[in-house]
Amino acid sequence: MSSMPLIPKQAAIAVADMVDNCAKVKPGMNVLIIAANDGLHGGVNIVDQETVTWLHAAVVQRGADATVIWCDIPARPAIIWGQGADPSKAWRVPPVVANAMRAADVVISNAVDLTYEEELREIPDILEERKIKYARNMATTASLLSSNWGLTPYELVSEIRIQANALAKPGARWVMTHPNGSHVEGIVVKPEDMDDYAHYRDIGVYCPFPEGVWSSIRARDAEGVGIINEIGVIWARHIGVPCPFKQPVRVYIERGYIKKFEGGEEAETLTRFYKFISEYLGEATYEVRGFHGGVHPSAILEPHQCPNAPYRHFIEHHHWSSFHFHMGNSRRAKDFPYLMHISAELRGGDLKIGDHYVYKNSRITTADHPKVKAIAEKYKNRPGLEPERWLQTPR
Ligand SMILES: [Fe+2]
Repeated sequence: MSSMPLIPKQAAIAVADMVDNCAKVKPGMNVLIIAANDGLHGGVNIVDQETVTWLHAAVVQRGADATVIWCDIPARPAIIWGQGADPSKAWRVPPVVANAMRAADVVISNAVDLTYEEELREIPDILEERKIKYARNMATTASLLSSNWGLTPYELVSEIRIQANALAKPGARWVMTHPNGSHVEGIVVKPEDMDDYAHYRDIGVYCPFPEGVWSSIRARDAEGVGIINEIGVIWARHIGVPCPFKQPVRVYIERGYIKKFEGGEEAETLTRFYKFISEYLGEATYEVRGFHGGVHPSAILEPHQCPNAPYRHFIEHHHWSSFHFHMGNSRRAKDFPYLMHISAELRGGDLKIGDHYVYKNSRITTADHPKVKAIAEKYKNRPGLEPERWLQTPR
């Protein structure tokens, strides 16, 4: 007889928050929980059995039907371009997984390779056919669930996100600056399917746990220079650059398009990668298609909580001091199988949209919104707007 590991109180709170407030599981729903086997054994889809077991238990306790799939993801090169590579022919979602997704009311995914907006276009295509809700659990291990990152109230971070999106008024000028000399600015473009960004996530099928970023804002006519030390880890792996870089990269942008990368080895790799991909996507490869950033107060973890360094960087991408712009646009190329999601990361600078700062003094300004503060009052015994009070290792 196997024994079920005892769940720490912190993890139980996080699991309930995930299932009730992010996935919004209700009695009678068919809930599909997915994890990838490689993630148990050092692969990129980091996960543990406790997390999947606890999610399953929480789902059935709510009167829903749960199906758990432990799947294999096709083995493939991490780098998708270069000699002999054909990025127009990507790997496919395993058909059993794809069909299980189609039959679910809600999917809870614990697999990085099956993300909604960074890997395969096939995933959103499957989900959007029937508007199937896709809850992406990023706190995929017992220690991540038990961390301050997992334990910060979902509702609190959601409100920080909603208020940040509300500041992105179509037509306004956005300006990113950083003490390292970065200055990038452009114009906010209206979303494709709504008049503004105020409740943008509410219409979509995708929601991550913990809350991560405010929804991406479309942009045009970007100008300036971004000096970056890293790009998002998923595409760093697909391009083949370290995260962080060994040497900063200067990204020169004119009239909405990247003109040049300058720096060391990484700038050279990026230059060759973008040229290669432009054979498939044309000038959209170089488009600065948008920007946004992190909303989470406690998205910085210690190595003992998450031994995998790239995954810690991935988590920090969601911290409320972190923002980025997107380098490249594959959205219009419907037959291109990858979702090009290359985030040029800046931490600790300022972002202003119109007359309002969104980031100032290494912090998102909407954390001070009265609605956010009112929600924080409800959760006094959980990490929230004063993350430093909850650190076990003061920084
Ligand atoms: Fe992004």
